[in-house]
Amino acid sequence: MTQSTTTRGQAAPTEGGRPARAGRVEAVRFAATHTLPVLVRDLVGPPARLLRPAPGAGRPRWPAATLRALRARHGGAPVLLRGPTGPTLVLLDPLDLPRFHEAPPSELATCPPDKCRAPGAPAAGRPTRPEDHDDLREHRREVNEIVLASGSPVHPSCGPFLAVIADEAGRLGASPTLGLARARHIVTRAARRMVLGDTAAGDEELAGWLDRLDAGGDRGAHRKNRAAETLHEKASARIARYAAAAEPFTLVGRARRHPDPAGTLDPIGQALHWLRALDTVPATLLRTLLLLAAHPAEHEAASTEARSGDAAKGELPRLRACVQETLRLYPVVPDLVRVTRTETEWRGVRHPAGTPVLLPALFHQRDPEHVPAADVFVPGRWTSPGSRADLRMAPFGHGAGRCPGDRLGLLVVSAFCAELLRGHRVRDGRPALHPVGPLPAALDPRRIRLTITRR
Ligand code: HEM
Repeated sequence: MTQSTTTRGQAAPTEGGRPARAGRVEAVRFAATHTLPVLVRDLVGPPARLLRPAPGAGRPRWPAATLRALRARHGGAPVLLRGPTGPTLVLLDPLDLPRFHEAPPSELATCPPDKCRAPGAPAAGRPTRPEDHDDLREHRREVNEIVLASGSPVHPSCGPFLAVIADEAGRLGASPTLGLARARHIVTRAARRMVLGDTAAGDEELAGWLDRLDAGGDRGAHRKNRAAETLHEKASARIARYAAAAEPFTLVGRARRHPDPAGTLDPIGQALHWLRALDTVPATLLRTLLLLAAHPAEHEAASTEARSGDAAKGELPRLRACVQETLRLYPVVPDLVRVTRTETEWRGVRHPAGTPVLLPALFHQRDPEHVPAADVFVPGRWTSPGSRADLRMAPFGHGAGRCPGDRLGLLVVSAFCAELLRGHRVRDGRPALHPVGPLPAALDPRRIRLTITRR
């Protein structure tokens, strides 16, 4: 790893304890292309915004060149950017990454990305004080860690989940081209089976309600929008019906078995989160297959692994590395956000409690000044010891905020890839990618078309 040219002690852009500020032009460019305003607005409660492919999904979300220029100008110091919702501290130097990831929630509270929150949840019952919000999130996080088995390399429901995926994945290769609509139809069926049970597999009505809730706009709009709350109530009632009869291996079945004396667990709300998180799988699946189609040697190695005996047990280290590398290049969550809970000092500058701190994860993961072959598909970088703990790479975050569904997410995407590659080849992917890069800054999954042929 190339080291940054600055250190905490050496950084000199904060003369007199004054923060490094972006100029107006930079701030406007940043705000115009960035998810930041939405994330910051949402710090006090869950929104209902869609993080699945949306208009603009093919464009870079932020200009890397602007961020690199800011970093150079301010010697790597965190930069205050003023957006419509107030100033945000943006971390541009890799030296600041450990603190972001390692600080306890009492110093830097985590702020889960949109994709991990239930769409359209009514405002009633949400805590309004930040401390209450933190307590509730900590409790739910604990439950998530147990249900999603974040600490164990193999999810306890791995066997039944692989059986569901094998069952559903057959149709991925059923016609000669594969695009987002079919991939999404197949994956969301499997997701409903894993979260709610087999009886939910064909519930396209529920899927439609969740899509409509997601498409409905931000939280403010929902609060005013009685129709959205009614939709949320209908979806929750339907989920509650499935939950009551869900098989023990399902996520909601596992959550139901968790003791909940205070009644704060909200398995129905959690089920909505999980369905939403799993809805990110189709885009990552298509991007991984497109990258494999453009890299024949990796494709061959992945196919060999998919046909091996260990694949049936979900042991797919090569394919997992391919998925992780896809997420490095095209992360589902390109920006991580925290909020300071107390007055906090960064490189000699004090920032008040309540300051949003943004780590542009995609910028760091593809930073050519610090990541070798930053714009090239190199899955092997994920097989070296310690790669999971490399703080430059944060497709799932790190530390207290790390995604509790990371292993499950990797299992699901790699198992779907393996099911397809066992009997098929993927080729002639569109858009065409150059095998030795540089790869494009963004890949809109709605534009991906794969040609599938039988082996
Ligand atoms: C490939 C798929 C996935 C990716 C790339 C991903 C990525 C992430 C990221 C980056 C975060 C925020 C980390 C941070 O703020 O530092 C997160 C949080 C979260 N993810 Fe995932 N995730 C995936 C799949 C899943 C799945 C399958 C589930 C559950 C079924 C899930 C549940 C959650 C939850 C509950 C949180 C919030 C944790 C908290 O409140 O602290 N994720 N995810």
